[in-house]
Amino acid sequence: MRRLISYLSVLSIFLFITLSLFSNARAADFKREVIYQIMTDRFLDGSTANNNPSQSSGLYDATKTNWRLYWGGDLAGIQQKVSYLAGLGVTAIWISPPVDNLNTNIPDGQGNPTASYHGYQGRDFKRVEEHFGDTSNTWTDFDNLVTAAHQNGIKVVVDFAPNHSTQDNGGEYGALYDNGSFLGNYTNDTNSYYHHNGNISDFNDRYQLQYYALFDLADLNQENATIDGYLKAAVQQFQQHGVDGFRIDAVKHATWGWEYSFANSIYTYGDSFLFGEWYQGNTSDPLYHDSYKFANKSGISLLDFPLNTAIRDVFGSTNNGFSEIDGVISQEATNFTWKEDLVTFIDNHDMARFLTINNNNNRLHEALAFTLTSRGIPCIYYGTEQYLHNDTNGGTDPYNRPMMPGFGTTTTAYKLIGNLSSLRHSNPAVPYGSMGQRWINSDVYIYERKFFGSVALVAINKNDSSSYLISGLNTALPAGTYSDYLNGLVGGLSITVSSGSGGNNPVTNFSLPAHTVSVWQFTEGSALPEVGSIGPTSGQAGVKVTIAGRNFGSSAGSVKFGTTTATINSWTPTQIVCTTPSVTNGVYNVTVTNSSSQVSNVIQYTVLTAKLIPVTFTVYNATPTQTGDYIFLTGNTIELGNWSTTWDGAVGPMLPPNYPNWFLNASVPAGQTIQFKFIKIAANGAVTWEAGNNHQYTVPTSGTGYVNVNWQY
Ligand code: NOJ
Ligand code: NOJ
Repeated sequence: MRRLISYLSVLSIFLFITLSLFSNARAADFKREVIYQIMTDRFLDGSTANNNPSQSSGLYDATKTNWRLYWGGDLAGIQQKVSYLAGLGVTAIWISPPVDNLNTNIPDGQGNPTASYHGYQGRDFKRVEEHFGDTSNTWTDFDNLVTAAHQNGIKVVVDFAPNHSTQDNGGEYGALYDNGSFLGNYTNDTNSYYHHNGNISDFNDRYQLQYYALFDLADLNQENATIDGYLKAAVQQFQQHGVDGFRIDAVKHATWGWEYSFANSIYTYGDSFLFGEWYQGNTSDPLYHDSYKFANKSGISLLDFPLNTAIRDVFGSTNNGFSEIDGVISQEATNFTWKEDLVTFIDNHDMARFLTINNNNNRLHEALAFTLTSRGIPCIYYGTEQYLHNDTNGGTDPYNRPMMPGFGTTTTAYKLIGNLSSLRHSNPAVPYGSMGQRWINSDVYIYERKFFGSVALVAINKNDSSSYLISGLNTALPAGTYSDYLNGLVGGLSITVSSGSGGNNPVTNFSLPAHTVSVWQFTEGSALPEVGSIGPTSGQAGVKVTIAGRNFGSSAGSVKFGTTTATINSWTPTQIVCTTPSVTNGVYNVTVTNSSSQVSNVIQYTVLTAKLIPVTFTVYNATPTQTGDYIFLTGNTIELGNWSTTWDGAVGPMLPPNYPNWFLNASVPAGQTIQFKFIKIAANGAVTWEAGNNHQYTVPTSGTGYVNVNWQY
């Protein structure tokens, strides 16, 4: 009996230590994660009891021949495989939207039944889909998955789609439920819960993107206080169930200004990491500027679609050389303030899998190694490690969503992901460092990641048959001999570095064999405090902030926002949690001082005036504009741009669906009396202010707001 008691107490101490270790890892620092994207329905059927639930019967295909029906994968199936995922080096899973989805079958153009097996037609954002959890739509299986994932050091990212409910012209006609109670639907929308403008036809039109429907999906009106409150409460419920982050679906289509308040509401409640889907082909997209302005200010990072295109072009073909990737990396580095938070990927559920576009495992390994070592947070689509692909119809949706073929742990891809995931944790240059090109031709890319004295140098030769002589290569790696971090897994070799000057140490010439990836790295010993990450990147007084990096020391020092010292909530050598101080709104330089009074580098943080409320601003009869001129909003707080008159600093551009009236939904500080004006920024950059006194408005303390004024001549 005694023995049993002491065994139990040892066990409980052990459990306590492990759980607190994991709970200590904050979601607000996601840069060290390796994300794995799972289509829940296509991973593993863990429970057969939920395959054909009565409230939505007939949507399951046991034969797995209709690719648009449910095939049985569920949350219990993912839970069974968390140790497989941990072994793969995965530290975060992104799962399909788990909310209760459309219950009916909608026939496709050929009369075949289709179902919302992918999760993007939510009907009740406060309940769990019966095909994924249990037939009573409870949270049990969801909670069990989160617990199992956390016990294995894996964070959980929920795909959340605030843009729409279900299809507006069939099925359930957008019907929305609040934990089982009917709220409204699209066809009899007496409360204006939806936008009724038809489908988006011009995907470069800002107004259409936000206010028209995406592929017949009932477009939610987030400016309606009920919908705003509903979506914020629903996402908070996921936070209460232990979710670490959210992949926000279609951020380009939900109301952009509202999304700032959505993000702020999540951060006000707790620690999280947010990244959105802003689809675009490349950095020449007409709305590329809008995309980085959104990422820099909203608190929502983005999936890196421009880099995705370049990765597919360069590794997927022989024609496109590495300058395409290098060009995107440098362009994005000048535009994205938080580029290390961009989520990078080779493929996903909306495009053909890599092996469909190029059925060459070497190229897949090279693309994986690139994604796992270049800047940004890597995300790997389920099955990549098993070389999964189905090439029917060019392998696009739904053929890019086959059932997971097996869970073997011996493939090269499986080992490669695991090794590089370890490097991401051990060497801060990978999650936090700069990225610079050191040697390039169309087949070879040698790039360096550097964070203070820590360095990772990566060499890729994508040519399938030719080796290249690498001469004149310099590196910041200190003099010495470096073996391949991957131990030759994909053909890597050793190099010798001698001493040079100015951070350029010469590497002895070597031959880089065909289809090779080599990784050489050096992790600096202890030095001054080095800050690599802050999350969230903005918040009002009271919002908890996670600062990550190294050499903070084990006893607490201090964190300053400008000259103001913040309250420390927890302190470890690599991670500090502090509280946003009550200071004047604005952009602050944040520094860490260790207990020996050594001060870190600076990282930026924006202190907001108050929690954010979405307000729709309309200015009637604005000053005349020519093509390329836009009306913007500017005002007296950081949220309103502090009277900035630049494209990036002011709020906008506003939208003129009823020209010459312009409107914009913007998130502004609750309860504050704000001063503001409208300006025209002409195509040539010239700024015209409206005349008269500033407008004044007191922002509501909850819900949403509307303000309508005339342009002052
Ligand atoms: C983007 C998702 O990734 C896609 O699969 C989905 O159909 C649309 N958004 C609509 O939710
Ligand atoms: C300068 C503008 O010219 C003026 O119109 C505006 O009211 C102030 N900025 C803000 O106080």
